Amino acid sequence: MTDQSATLKIGDKSVDLAVKSGTIGPDVIDIGALYKNTASFTYDPGFTSTASCESKITYIDGDEGVLLHRGYPIEQLAEHGDFLEVCYLLLYGELPTAAQKKDFDYRVTHHTMVHEQMSRFFTGFRRDAHPMAVMCGCVGALSAFYHDSTDITDPHQRMVASLRMIAKMPTLAAMAYKYHIGQPFVYPKNDLDYASNFLRMCFAVPCEEYVVNPVLSRAMDRIFILHADHEQNASTSTVRLAGSSGANPFACIAAGIACLWGPAHGGVNEAALNMLTEIGSVDRIPEYVARAKDKNDPFRLMGFGHRVYKNYDPRAKIMQKTTHEVLGELGVKDDPLLEVAMELERIALTDEYFIEKKLYPNIDFYSGITLKALGFPTTMFTVLFALARTVGWIAQWNEMIEDPQQRIGRPRQLYIGEPKRDYLPVSKR
Ligand code: CMC
Repeated sequence: MTDQSATLKIGDKSVDLAVKSGTIGPDVIDIGALYKNTASFTYDPGFTSTASCESKITYIDGDEGVLLHRGYPIEQLAEHGDFLEVCYLLLYGELPTAAQKKDFDYRVTHHTMVHEQMSRFFTGFRRDAHPMAVMCGCVGALSAFYHDSTDITDPHQRMVASLRMIAKMPTLAAMAYKYHIGQPFVYPKNDLDYASNFLRMCFAVPCEEYVVNPVLSRAMDRIFILHADHEQNASTSTVRLAGSSGANPFACIAAGIACLWGPAHGGVNEAALNMLTEIGSVDRIPEYVARAKDKNDPFRLMGFGHRVYKNYDPRAKIMQKTTHEVLGELGVKDDPLLEVAMELERIALTDEYFIEKKLYPNIDFYSGITLKALGFPTTMFTVLFALARTVGWIAQWNEMIEDPQQRIGRPRQLYIGEPKRDYLPVSKR
């Protein structure tokens, strides 16, 4: 709290509103008492000026291009940490000691199998179902299997549910992929790290040994780190809102997955790669840039722009480096999509329209090229995002449940429909 306050006048009514400060970042005006004192609501479609909660997990400075998890810059975490270390940090608030890390890795690793009956859920879907549709259904179905971790008032059960979801998400994602391409499911293997295990479950086949490439598994792990959390974005807010009613954690994460699927959010990595493929060659870029700038054309450059970042997305820089590492390791030279991507980025960064609107490449501009090189079809891209974001959703959900101020989320509205009117019998309409 600061000693400042804000005064709001509406007609003859006036109300003093407290101004609160965080550790860093903009102050907020606490409007909790506004309706009681003035009988008015605030109006903020898209929540562009609204903080919905207090949080200690992630901080973004969109103007400076800064992303911190529990205070640690994303660049340092991606360079020196591994994904499970970042999971620990997001969940518990501190980096683990060596002993804590060993114990956490062990616990996650020993929760990776899913109930054998889960496999029958998969076979209920058509083979051509989008893997995100399968994920929405199967993750929601976890609550039908793990009843011993759905009591949200018990901190132990909450932590068991959290570990289960972080551990089982790669298994379910790999199963969704295998089902999609008609290959048998591959069980997890406990002597592999998180990312290597996932790559093996996706790409191993029973007829030959699968050898993990450490460069590719490190790249996979880094992609998971970069997507782990991003404060109160649409899917995280969805998870919090679903959880605010007391819904069980598996159902809440399924809600987050459904929200993530949209092309303005997690679905953009798929949309960005489709766009690069459609553009196809460098000489066609000006045509697409012109379309993106045309007010009468709904086309947007996928992978450009961000609600919060009005500067280079710090994750995009790391992602660009990872893309080059993966393509180098796989010996992909002169990849036409990469060539289109780099030229598009160059043009957009020097174009007045994009400069003026502060539209920079976001993380998903480059992640699609990397995931494609790793062997994933575009339909799996958002699934991988969901896998990585699960820990962020879970950490935010836990924080919400532990928040003494937590109440059911219930926004209000500005009603612009018909005022009260009387029912007319059909003969009189
Ligand atoms: N291409 C062309 N013009 C754009 C683009 C774009 N990619 N993004 C925004 N604009 C323009 C938009 O037309 C608007 O212009 P004007 O002020 O003249 O009406 C202005 O920039 C502001 O756009 P907005 O839609 O009001 O901004 P927003 O904060 O509501 O939307 C966004 C942010 C990310 C949804 C949007 O930039 C977009 O649709 N980008 C393409 C899709 C994309 O890359 N999404 C991934 C976001 S990052 C991953 C994640 O967090 O899940």
